[in-house]
Amino acid sequence: MRQIAPPPRLLMGPGPVDADPRVLRAQSAALVGQFDPWMTRTMAETQELWREVFVTANEQTLIVDGTARAGIEAAIVSLVEPGDRVLVPVFGRFGHLLREIAERAGAEVHVIEAEWGTVFPESVIREAIDRVRPSLVALVHGDTSTTMAQPLDGLGAYCAERGALLYVDATASLGGNTLRVDELGIDAITTGLQKCLGGPSGSAPASFSPRAVETIMGRRSVEAGIRGEGDETAQNRIRSNYFDLAMIFDYWGPKRLNHHTEATSALYGARECARIIVEEGLPATIARHELAGRAMLAGVQGLGLAAYGDLAHRMNNVTGVIIPDGVEPDAVRGAMLEHFGIEIGTSFGPLHGKVWRIGTMGFNARKDAVLTTLAALETCLRRAGAAVPVGGGVDAALDEYAGS
Ligand SMILES: Cc1ncc(COP(=O)(O)O)c(C=O)c1O
Repeated sequence: MRQIAPPPRLLMGPGPVDADPRVLRAQSAALVGQFDPWMTRTMAETQELWREVFVTANEQTLIVDGTARAGIEAAIVSLVEPGDRVLVPVFGRFGHLLREIAERAGAEVHVIEAEWGTVFPESVIREAIDRVRPSLVALVHGDTSTTMAQPLDGLGAYCAERGALLYVDATASLGGNTLRVDELGIDAITTGLQKCLGGPSGSAPASFSPRAVETIMGRRSVEAGIRGEGDETAQNRIRSNYFDLAMIFDYWGPKRLNHHTEATSALYGARECARIIVEEGLPATIARHELAGRAMLAGVQGLGLAAYGDLAHRMNNVTGVIIPDGVEPDAVRGAMLEHFGIEIGTSFGPLHGKVWRIGTMGFNARKDAVLTTLAALETCLRRAGAAVPVGGGVDAALDEYAGS
């Protein structure tokens, strides 16, 4: 068997996208023992950097090992006890994931749904909170499946007034869209590295407000074998061991209680993702995503294609493209990959075969990546029989860059 040698690709789908080479380099650094003072200092630096990306002062800001779904599961299973009422506003595939995880955690789940391609008016969520009286409201910020971003202004304060915690899945949106955790009153938030944050999947940065921490620590139950005198063994302990945030807080905190073996290389990568954003400046990172997204949208429209969904609420970093009639969706994607090495995304569920999703995020929220993708798309569409204006996509995107 030969050494692994992936083909060169430009990943312009809804994620993963190409990791920043600096992140890959950081991941190849030497391993150090998890309780080595250098390592605990590096973990503390990682927490500090991620506080800046989440725009939070939350002490409990850390990395859950596993893909973004691990962060979601850790948050929900640690915050929810069987029988708790949870409200999940669903406006795409990943809202259904939150619902599923909350159901498995034994919650009494109440769902409200918005048509795919739209988001909820704030009043609809407020009305549901008043009706359901949940202990947790769990929703996705940017749902990659529809490319929409749910406005969150006012929601955290409303949840707090009504005695509910607010959990937000920011896997697709953080780093590419404005999302200031403390200002929004978010109690629990998780993400993954593989989209706007410029890394590979496998780490789930997360942050928890003091109110969320209080709920989680109320269920603290320290494992036998490391339990000290006076350590809690709660009756209502968290129903997952790996995703027990109370134990994970003890592991990251000054107690350094052993939980899992640190995923050291992944930690280095997560630290580097946040370091790069802090170095560029979070507002500049978001502005780069906004510009790349705007250029991609203009380019797609310049090719005579229609964009999917309520454009007033689209995420900066993923553009939904309505597949023109008469074009075989997978053939065009296949040609993009075969001839140009460029990946764009298909869609899930009701949008499958109808919408392509093109990501402009993380390391790939760059002018050259946008223009190359549009040039390739034009060629592949034309060869598939679609009437597309020659140069229409690249020119429209270039105009967007020139005007910025
Ligand atoms: C909004 C959202 N939430 C959750 C996930 C799940 O992430 P992962 O596949 O890293 O577990 C994704 C993945 O695309 C996502 O887009």
